[in-house]
This record gives sequence, C-alpha cells and structure tokens, in this order.
Amino acid sequence: MEIFRTINPARQMARTWKARGQSVGVVPTMGFLHAGHESLIRRARAENGQVLVTVFVNPTQFSPNEDLAAYPRDLGRDLAICESLGVGAVFCPEPGEMYPPGFATQVSLPSMSQVLCGRSRPHHFQGVCTVCAKLFAITEPDRAYFGLKDAQQYFILRRMVRDLDLDLELVPCPIVREPDGLALSSRNSYLDPAERRAAPVLSRALRLAGELAANGERRARELIGAIEGTVAGEPLARLDYAQVVDTETLSEADQIESEVLVAAAMWLGRTRLIDNLIFDPGAR
Ligand code: PAJ
Repeated sequence: MEIFRTINPARQMARTWKARGQSVGVVPTMGFLHAGHESLIRRARAENGQVLVTVFVNPTQFSPNEDLAAYPRDLGRDLAICESLGVGAVFCPEPGEMYPPGFATQVSLPSMSQVLCGRSRPHHFQGVCTVCAKLFAITEPDRAYFGLKDAQQYFILRRMVRDLDLDLELVPCPIVREPDGLALSSRNSYLDPAERRAAPVLSRALRLAGELAANGERRARELIGAIEGTVAGEPLARLDYAQVVDTETLSEADQIESEVLVAAAMWLGRTRLIDNLIFDPGAR
C-alpha cells in the first residue's frame, strides 16, 4: 500500500491505475476509522480495480468553537486498517499541502447548507464541498463513497457533482450501527458511560417516526412531534433539531409527497450526535 502526503504523487498514482485500465474508487475520511468507514472501503474495494482512501481532518469544516484540536486521530491504526482491507493507497496530507498560502476559492451551495446541521454549523458544508472538490480533482475517481450517516453532506455533494459537471459517480452507503441502534461515529468516543447509555434514544426516536410514515402518516409535524417526544423522555439528552426535508432541495416539507430526509441532531453533554432516515412514499 502506498502512502502519500503530497498531492502530485497521489494524482500520478490514480492516473497510473487508470492507464492500466483499473477503475478507481475513493473514500474520503477524517480518519479514526471505525466499522462505518470500513463498510465504505469494502464496498469501494468490491466495485473498483483500486481504492484510494483519504485521511484528512479538514480544518475549514470546523467552526472556531468546535472540536478541531480534540478531534480523535490515530494514523498508524488507520493505515493498518486500510492495508488489511486491500486499499491501494492512502492520501494523508497536512493542512498546508491542501491550503497553501494564498488559497482563496470556496465552493458553496447556500440554499442546501443553511438548513439542518447548517443552522448550528454555518460554514461547515462550504468546507466540506471545497475539500471534496479538491479531493475529486486530485484523484479523478470513477466513484466516490459516502455514508448516509451524514445524509445532508451526501445530498449537497450530489448537487455539487451535478452542478459542476464532475465526471464521477457518488455512491451512498447505508448507516452502520451499534447493536443498540446508535450510529457509529468518531464522536461517540467523547461520551461518558451514562451518556453512552442514553445515546440510542436518537435512533429510537427516528425509528418511531419511520414507523409512523410507513403506516401512512404524511404530516411532517406528526413525525417531528414523535421525535421530540421520544428524546424528551431521556433526561441527559437535548434535541438540537428534528426536521423533514425534500431530498432534492433540502427545503422543508410539510406534507410528505416525495422522497424525504427525516433528520435529527441531539446534544449529550458537550457532544452533538446526528442520525436520520430516508423515507420514500412511492417505494413499496
Ligand atoms: P468522516 O466523518 O470521517 O466520515 C467519512 C465517511 O464515513 C463519510 O462519508 C461518513 O458519512 C461515513 N460514515 C461515518 N460514520 C458512518 C456510519 N456509522 N455508517 C456509514 N457511514 C459512515 O464525513 C467526513 O469525514 C468529512 O466531512 C469528509 C467527507 C471526509 C470531508 O472532510
């Protein structure tokens, strides 16, 4: 497995693979890999001739008051996991390689970035779009793999790829969960034991909303009420938001008429957890 800290050799590697007729799958991550990331890497491995994983804790997607410095890191372990999964190369640049002096361009989709998580993280998705546009430009993948754990991120990037005519396929991958329902996240490592025991309330709340929708409820207000009510029953938890939005535009849906994202975020102490489900009234 090759390890690249700079852009040019990573770009050359991807081009060499393609010249050999191998398709390239890219899995962008911020490292501290867990079974959620691993599911993306396995899928990429199964669907491509070569896989390149990026490990980069992207500073521009963190707000000044967020956890950039504390964000968990373990590159040695990440590299071992990638190696064991048959990854061909890992691209793990320093911030100065990605953002040299004079860097000035931003890619943003304001209408989709100020809702849901964007309400409390106003610059987050601009940072995500800009870094992903760069990673796609560097590695020119055939496919890039994203988890639906971060569904807003996936829907925004899908819009960006279409709007900028980027020549790659984004592959959405299902949420990997703990046995008690908690969606795997690097931030779960921040939870103390009592918070960890309380954490599955978010997935329970969403599951209840999903059952209501599956049984014919089409009023978004009712689904949101069910989520609010369930999370309110957990004393350690504080709901940040629960929203129902159209998956194409991320605009709020009052009535469920097309595919919607039901998304929620909650605070447990100083840790913010997110979860969601996608519901399509037309699907049988
Ligand atoms: P990170 O949080 O490391 O996540 C990398 C990828 O793993 C994302 O596509 C995310 O949705 C996916 N993922 C995380 N937890 C998952 C789970 N429980 N099940 C399935 N997939 C899961 O998302 C980012 O990094 C960054 O914003 C990035 C796209 C790398 C840009 O900096």
